[in-house]
Amino acid sequence: MRDLRTLSRSQVLVSPSLLAADFGRAAEQVAEAAAAGADMLHLDVMDGHLVPNLSFGGPVIKSLRKSSDLLFDVHLMITDPLKYAESFVKAGADHITFHVECDNDPAAVIAECRRLGVTVGMSLRPGTPASAILPYLDRIDLVLVMTVEPGFGGQSFMADQMPKVAEFKREIRKRGLNVRLEVDGGVDERTVTTCAAHGADLVVAGTAVFGHKEGMQVAISRLHAATPSLDSAL
Ligand code: DX5
Ligand code: ZN
Repeated sequence: MRDLRTLSRSQVLVSPSLLAADFGRAAEQVAEAAAAGADMLHLDVMDGHLVPNLSFGGPVIKSLRKSSDLLFDVHLMITDPLKYAESFVKAGADHITFHVECDNDPAAVIAECRRLGVTVGMSLRPGTPASAILPYLDRIDLVLVMTVEPGFGGQSFMADQMPKVAEFKREIRKRGLNVRLEVDGGVDERTVTTCAAHGADLVVAGTAVFGHKEGMQVAISRLHAATPSLDSAL
């Protein structure tokens, strides 16, 4: 059952980003992350247009799917998610997050993901206000708040994005929605605390998991130790 909507809400969940793995040993690294307690796998797809970098596409996801049962949390940093969503689902995506800054009508991308039978999330760059996504909140399963400029792993966490996380949390609560709140970029065992305190219930961590000196198990258990905020005043 690789369904985002049924995962635990009692602890902060961890989605290690493949971007920080050794691509030459990708399948092995993914298996290691799963054994170390990863709740899902974050797959960053970049097209060199929406973001100034290229990463990997469907064929890599398809290969990894053969040996992994993890939920594949696919982050599409591409200008035309409507055109490619189906190929990513066929490759093995369980969940698709696209950017509000893409070239498509968000409502059409959401409808396409529903047609394809996957859960759908929306993401936004640090400079984009929450108001860009709020009109779609009732129709999606996840909001992904970027805490770095999308395009590269290993950047520093932007704490100034936390008010935006809290704003989404308040709105999700107010409307009584089952929408997950994910934070992506520069999350480690230190910055995860502030993410959780502002209402995040899912964190992406690339460098902090695949690059941890003490190994992935220590890395993931320290991220899991963050307590999700129950503060209704948020
Ligand atoms: C950045 C990606 C992130 C990135 C996170 O564009 O969306 O998922 O891999 O990497 P770290 O955790 O190293 O900041
Ligand atoms: Zn990402």
